[in-house]
Amino acid sequence: MQTPTKQPTPTKETLGWIGTGRMGYAMAERLAKGGCDITVWNRTKSKAEPLKQHGAKVVNQLEELSTRDILFCMVSTYEDVKEVIGKALAAGGNKGKPKMVVECSSISLEGSAELRKNLEGKGIQYLAAPVSGNAKVIKAGKLTFAVSGPKAAYEKARPFLDMIGQGSSYVGEGELARIVKICHNVFLGVVTQSLAEITILAQKAGVPRHAFLDFLNKSVMGSTFTRYKTPAFVNLDFKVTFTPHLLRKDMDLGLDAGREFEVPMPLAALTRDLIQQMIGHGMTEQDFATLLVMQAKASGLELKPENKEVGDGLAS
Ligand SMILES: NC(=O)c1ccc[n+]([C@@H]2O[C@H](COP(=O)([O-])OP(=O)(O)OC[C@H]3O[C@@H](n4cnc5c(N)ncnc54)[C@H](OP(=O)(O)O)[C@@H]3O)[C@@H](O)[C@H]2O)c1
Repeated sequence: MQTPTKQPTPTKETLGWIGTGRMGYAMAERLAKGGCDITVWNRTKSKAEPLKQHGAKVVNQLEELSTRDILFCMVSTYEDVKEVIGKALAAGGNKGKPKMVVECSSISLEGSAELRKNLEGKGIQYLAAPVSGNAKVIKAGKLTFAVSGPKAAYEKARPFLDMIGQGSSYVGEGELARIVKICHNVFLGVVTQSLAEITILAQKAGVPRHAFLDFLNKSVMGSTFTRYKTPAFVNLDFKVTFTPHLLRKDMDLGLDAGREFEVPMPLAALTRDLIQQMIGHGMTEQDFATLLVMQAKASGLELKPENKEVGDGLAS
């Protein structure tokens, strides 16, 4: 498992961090372990507390983050982003304000543009910086960022993004990173549904899931993603990495963008409704990879764990 190397911090900037859910915790942990001066807030404070052992400061009030140089945010939806950033800046007038906000949640283009307008109006630089990868991917040092906003701000934030993951792609001005992330997650949904379909087809025809996925993962069609979903598909460990609700949100953002730009998205539309069906069946608390279970049910197959030791391809 890769951890950030103990080197001098990339710059002297002080960091504020909002949100230590599955993703935010693992991201902030890499900055703290890397020796950054980082102060963290989470609505449920207990989830942030373990970061103290890596040198992070954990605060009770969001307002205490208003004087950090760079403020990172990783919560759920745009409504949540608006609420937490608003509160964090509320004390701004008296105490000061961050030089920059780096917003990493998966949110809409419209929400992101509104946030940019508000922040830039206050003289705060803003980067849209959504990510690809789950918490396990972050721990393995393999998270990636799509970033948009002023190029100079990106260059300032880049050393910290490099500490969190394996790199960032600067995709242009404004909210372009949001559409990149939305496209990415639409692909995630469609690929997962397709992987579920072919895995169940192979199994019903008599091929064990581990054998089928072993072949697929070694082929040109195998990917980091198919490899790291393999243990879940083989052994039915659906401990949540990304919830069906969050995936549905991203499919909806993709379909909204398709309508706005007049791009037909038939596969995305179908997949969105299959995710909806899964949610309707009450399958909301496990990983979205339970699309496999839905596919098995629809095929009259009762799934059992294969109890095979299979790698996730993430170890370096
Ligand atoms: N999981 C993935 O694989 C993945 C991958 C890429 C991108 N993303 C995106 O990353 C974001 C976070 O995902 P996650 O999986 O880390 O979600 P999560 O585990 O559910 O964490 C959500 C975080 O947001 C906080 N939050 C939500 N609403 C809030 C509010 N109104 N006020 C204050 N805090 C609030 C939560 O605080 P509490 O702890 O108090 O609930 C928690 O810290 C989402 O936008 C998601 O789409 C996720």
